[in-house]
Amino acid sequence: MFYDPRNQEHGLPHSPWTAIVVPRPIGWVSTLAADGTPNLAPYSFFNAVSGLPPFVMFSSASRKDSQANAEATGEFVVNIATWELRKAMNETSPGYDAGVDEFAIAGLDAVAGTNVAAPRVKQSPIAIECRYNKTVALVAENGTVASSSIIIGEVVGIHIDDRVLVDGQVDITKVRPLARLGYMDYCVVSESFAMKRPAARE
Ligand SMILES: Cc1cc2nc3c(=O)[nH]c(=O)nc-3n(C[C@H](O)[C@H](O)[C@H](O)COP(=O)(O)O)c2cc1C
Repeated sequence: MFYDPRNQEHGLPHSPWTAIVVPRPIGWVSTLAADGTPNLAPYSFFNAVSGLPPFVMFSSASRKDSQANAEATGEFVVNIATWELRKAMNETSPGYDAGVDEFAIAGLDAVAGTNVAAPRVKQSPIAIECRYNKTVALVAENGTVASSSIIIGEVVGIHIDDRVLVDGQVDITKVRPLARLGYMDYCVVSESFAMKRPAARE
């Protein structure tokens, strides 16, 4: 099958789009509202987008609390959502009012960041502290402004639980990060393999 999403229906019962670029890591974004209320929500349009200096992005389908808080306070934290925390992650996803603390709803502990005031999830083995860098609006060639924007953060602190470090490396089978597939589906990284890069041919 082929379709052009600008002007053609896919003809399937559900859009295949979010089932195609997968798996998407789940950035569990924690922020502080201007009044100091902690906020936590999962974002699967999330990724690391630069090595050194490191930057991350998440994409918000409208101007949700995480985006608004990151823009207002200049900070956010991305916690890695894991298999063990899957239920708690899901409990933080309903669209609660801005004054609601999703840490409390999901029974999670909020720990103040080291280089940012935004809290991190104590139970997550990896947390990435970010300074808000910019918001990128997405505008199609025909001028249509997407409801989604990309929020970019510069990484200013990385927490790694010593328990997931083995011989100086992050052991991904101990982290067991969750990732989003299409529809209602998820996957979890529970095994890995190594492959050496070939040398360039002369
Ligand atoms: C696994 C998962 C991934 C999600 N990814 C996104 C996403 O990438 N972008 C988005 O706008 N909403 C996403 N959502 C929905 C938000 O988590 C939801 O709208 C949440 O209420 C936003 O909270 P906030 O207003 O506190 O930021 C996702 C939900 C789940 C369960």
